[in-house]
Amino acid sequence: MSAKKKIKRIGVLTGGGDCPGLNAVIRAVTKTAMLEFGWEAVGFHDGYEGVVDNVATELTMSHVSNILTQGGTILGTSNVANPFAHPRKVRGKTIIEDRSKDAFATLKKHKVDCLVAIGGDGTMAITDQMHRAGFPVVGVPKTIDNDLAGTDITFGHDTAVQVISDALDRLHTTAQAHHRVMVLEVMGRYAGWLALNGAVSGGGDIVLIPEIPFTFDKVIKNIHWRRKHGKRFSLIIVAEGAKPLGGQLIVKRRVEGSPDPIRLGGIGKMVADHIEMETGISTRYTVLGHIQRGGTPTAMDRRLATDLGAHAADMIAHGKFGRMAAVHGKRVTDVPLSKVAGKIRKVTLKHPTVRAARGLGMGFGD
Ligand code: F6P
Repeated sequence: MSAKKKIKRIGVLTGGGDCPGLNAVIRAVTKTAMLEFGWEAVGFHDGYEGVVDNVATELTMSHVSNILTQGGTILGTSNVANPFAHPRKVRGKTIIEDRSKDAFATLKKHKVDCLVAIGGDGTMAITDQMHRAGFPVVGVPKTIDNDLAGTDITFGHDTAVQVISDALDRLHTTAQAHHRVMVLEVMGRYAGWLALNGAVSGGGDIVLIPEIPFTFDKVIKNIHWRRKHGKRFSLIIVAEGAKPLGGQLIVKRRVEGSPDPIRLGGIGKMVADHIEMETGISTRYTVLGHIQRGGTPTAMDRRLATDLGAHAADMIAHGKFGRMAAVHGKRVTDVPLSKVAGKIRKVTLKHPTVRAARGLGMGFGD
């Protein structure tokens, strides 16, 4: 019997930090499941939390209609829920429990034949574990950071880059008016995709990314060079994971129980303070923060999310479990979850966008 015949009902969840396009995937996978394959769908609330604690909603066409343009996720999400290592607060302390029995019981109760997990590296690692425990799963990659292994691009990234580009347009005019250095701190964890793509889209002058440690000497030289050539202002985009050569990452907080408990942040202020102190040039910093994750997805993200959602349904129909939908070049395809879990895709020093940025005279502080 083909997988298509055996499947009657799928489960859907969104895990990890939210990003624009999650609803477009929920819509695409659920509509394709219902309309094309005649399956039913159940949505689990707040990522794996809903699977562990049995909080679910039967999805109907009306749940998944009119959500294409909505940011966030109609299912809610969690960046700590994990059936195999589930955090629970006891008298102010976080204890970690194995709740996988509860998770499998919930899936059985809802007669879920395959679980579609839409998420980033943390969610993919958990989903791989579900697969290795014998449960049929399919992953769909999301993250504004674009740092997931196994795929060339993740949805949500384009929208976040647009937000950074818009912010730079605004910082540009005020920087120019005051002849200032403007530092914009962006997200991205340990990868510089958001900073790099945002800087190139928004015409930044200096970009500092985790993959290329910087020195203040080089950054300041670049600022002086620009002033010598009539540009009395500079726009610096700094990734939250950037650090000076030989320096440390700046950690803002720890989220106990999260697959990656470290939350970065603070490098923007550090860079701005240092530049102002060394040069005497008026310098300001802006931390763009969660604004990068909110709002309606761009057309590109809506399309990408839709392609990936439909592909996830096809993967289930063909019995391709334990795999994640992916984009290779212009092709939508899929890769084993085991090749994704626990890995990060970083900016390579020879990436065409790095080369293009250098060609424009953009400094990397190296
Ligand atoms: O992974 C997405 C992301 O927005 C990162 O860029 C950022 O470091 C992190 O999530 C922030 O997490 P939180 O929402 O827990 O503050």
